[in-house]
Amino acid sequence: MNKSALLKTILSAVVFAVLLGCGSEEKPAAKSANPGGLTDWQMTNGVGPLTSDVQTGPGVEDELAAKGSELFETKCSACHKLDERYVGPPLRDVTERRAPAYIMNMILDPEGMVKKHPEARKLLSQYMTFMTNQNVSEEQARALLEYLRKENIK
Ligand code: HEC
Repeated sequence: MNKSALLKTILSAVVFAVLLGCGSEEKPAAKSANPGGLTDWQMTNGVGPLTSDVQTGPGVEDELAAKGSELFETKCSACHKLDERYVGPPLRDVTERRAPAYIMNMILDPEGMVKKHPEARKLLSQYMTFMTNQNVSEEQARALLEYLRKENIK
């Protein structure tokens, strides 16, 4: 190795060490138990327009689920499939993974969720794409939730 190559190697090692050092400084102080200072309710139910639990019945409301199915076709299927990874994650089992209000908050305010919720951020880093706001009403988001509940019945 000639001198300048050696110098470059040393320099890049220093830069790397400095970068690593900066990274560790960014770790948040362990003040709140939850990342980003979210409440326990928000950790489970997401951050967005919904701030209280969404009630779902023991069964599925078929009429509402049918409305949700139509909406899913027009507003979601460009990015989501039920059983395969596509632009976004597969959604058949999302009602097992996430609380009803979490799902609706993600539908109603994906930008806010990705900004504030650690789980949504994690998914963003896996899928490297932002979910776009589909401008659905709360009522329509509820119908989409019912559709996803229906599709999860095995
Ligand atoms: C432009 C593509 C796109 C569209 C359109 C889209 N999504 Fe997404 N969706 C994504 C991506 C990408 C993610 C994961 C990464 C992220 O959060 O940004 C995601 C995440 C989600 C999640 C969270 C899944 C989990 O496991 O937490 C739900 C629920 C969801 N989408 C439902 C919907 C519904 C319902 C619609 C239709 C109203 C929709 N999405 C429209 C791309 C999209």
